[in-house]
Amino acid sequence: MTDIIQKNLDYKKYVVDSNLQYFKPHATQIEKTFAEEISSSLNRNSKFISPKFFYDKNGSELFEKICSTSEYYPTRTEISILKQLKNELPPFLDDDFRLVELGSGSSVKTRLLLDILTSQKNIEYLPIDISEILAESSEQLLRDYDNLTITGIIDTYEGGLEFLKTYDKKKNLIIFLGSSYGNFSPIDGYKFLEKVYSAMKPGDLFLIGLDLVKEKEILESAYDDSQKVTAKFNLNVLSRINDELDADFDLNNFLHHAIYNEKDQRIEMYLKSIHDQSVIISKSNLELKLKKDELIHTEYSHKYRLSEIHDLLDDAGFELKHTWLDEKKHFSLSLVTKI
Ligand code: TRP
Repeated sequence: MTDIIQKNLDYKKYVVDSNLQYFKPHATQIEKTFAEEISSSLNRNSKFISPKFFYDKNGSELFEKICSTSEYYPTRTEISILKQLKNELPPFLDDDFRLVELGSGSSVKTRLLLDILTSQKNIEYLPIDISEILAESSEQLLRDYDNLTITGIIDTYEGGLEFLKTYDKKKNLIIFLGSSYGNFSPIDGYKFLEKVYSAMKPGDLFLIGLDLVKEKEILESAYDDSQKVTAKFNLNVLSRINDELDADFDLNNFLHHAIYNEKDQRIEMYLKSIHDQSVIISKSNLELKLKKDELIHTEYSHKYRLSEIHDLLDDAGFELKHTWLDEKKHFSLSLVTKI
């Protein structure tokens, strides 16, 4: 343990009990990054707020709600594929594996994977998530699994992957579900895959869930549900900026806007300014001026063809083990390794 603390000097360790501990970077570092990133991404012609800022506690809860809307097919489809893995993943597990999850959104999916690992004497789960929602879901998991140990890393994926590199020698099964990868730009996505690759030891596994290209109507309604949960989720990032960076966004002055760009194979999400307005973001030292109908881009959600997924993983150096699909071919799960 002392070893770990020394190798990860920037992290504070919190021990809750013998089965549960957290590592968290010093708070001031997180806040500085947020204020600086917002300052540069909103202070330019095409304005942008990174989707990684969606997931504060409220945002994470709203996202869980999106996942159960009838229009949002990815979650239930991915869950149906994970159920197939109950029998089909074990042949790829040649040793004891720690489950490392990038994000800790849905405990339903986590549980399906933990259930696959239950034949091991001790199950270890290491979620990496920027949101403190991690704490809540961890405590629920510990209530339901006797032989489970959880080490939560409350940090960005990049930080968490860096942490993992020096952690120990146990094999890791890293999972990145929900087509979260599709939210990166192609360049950032590629860099991210390189980070995952370099955080892996030979023989580690990486399971990635990616959404597939399909009809525009299905895609657009998945990102603009009739109950307006997705709209609330998108607007919530402005409330977060208000609270954490002392800003004065009026949420009534913005609309949620989601369209599918067929050429670039992606859903594009924006916050649209209803009229000319100006907003102060104190901690970013910014007075933001917006014109009527001006868009703040908040997210891309890329959709893939199978051959593209295989090329992507191959280019990053991984070796493909298997790809699973649902019956309608709406969603995919790919398992890769590092040799
Ligand atoms: N990774 C999810 C996706 O792209 C994230 C997501 C789903 C999302 N619905 C959203 C993000 C709505 C913002 C708004 O499908």
